[in-house]
Amino acid sequence: MKFFILIILFLNVSFAQTDNFESDAKALVRDLKMSLIKNLSEKIAKDGPVEAIPYCHANVRPIAKSAAKDRVDKYEFGRTSHKIRNPGNAPQAWAENYLKEFEGKKMGETSKKFIIHQLENSKRVYLEPLYVEAKCLLCHGETISENISQKIKEIYPNDKAVGFKLGEFRGFIWVKEK
Ligand code: HEC
Repeated sequence: MKFFILIILFLNVSFAQTDNFESDAKALVRDLKMSLIKNLSEKIAKDGPVEAIPYCHANVRPIAKSAAKDRVDKYEFGRTSHKIRNPGNAPQAWAENYLKEFEGKKMGETSKKFIIHQLENSKRVYLEPLYVEAKCLLCHGETISENISQKIKEIYPNDKAVGFKLGEFRGFIWVKEK
């Protein structure tokens, strides 16, 4: 009996050591957030928010990839929301219930800092909520200046990603095992 318990303990320990999904996903999300915010802020500071809109649109993926070079081959990643701007970020089936759960919530209103969802094919998805900061209101807030609003409508005619309040849930950054 003791022998079996030892084996089970050993298997658990070795499993925990070889499985880095949660820590990899967290590191990847941190890199993605940092690089997106840095690049967006730099562009806004240099050329203003209207110029930053198409820049963000055209550069989200390459920025994200260069931020996470070593993990890019292992995982897929992206952003999604209940109110999307780019149709390419529309939620996949596994995100829908979590979006419903978080929709309209403010930061701190849920104790979940992240979610790990198991897919039917036994792959996992890590989802981390994004909340609206002051600098996001410029392009996602309730009142958006006319020139920014016009430019957004020009590039994203079906934009739904406006009307957010400070601190409100905006969407998820997600990382999925390939
Ligand atoms: C300069 C304008 C601008 C600012 C500021 C901005 N965004 Fe966005 N946001 C965009 C654009 C444009 C897109 C569509 C990008 C794309 O094509 O993938 C977008 C897309 C997103 C998405 C992906 C889902 C979707 O709607 O397509 C999330 C999530 C998001 N933004 C969150 C934020 C957060 C959080 C902040 C503040 C830290 C922020 N944004 C600041 C312009 C902006």
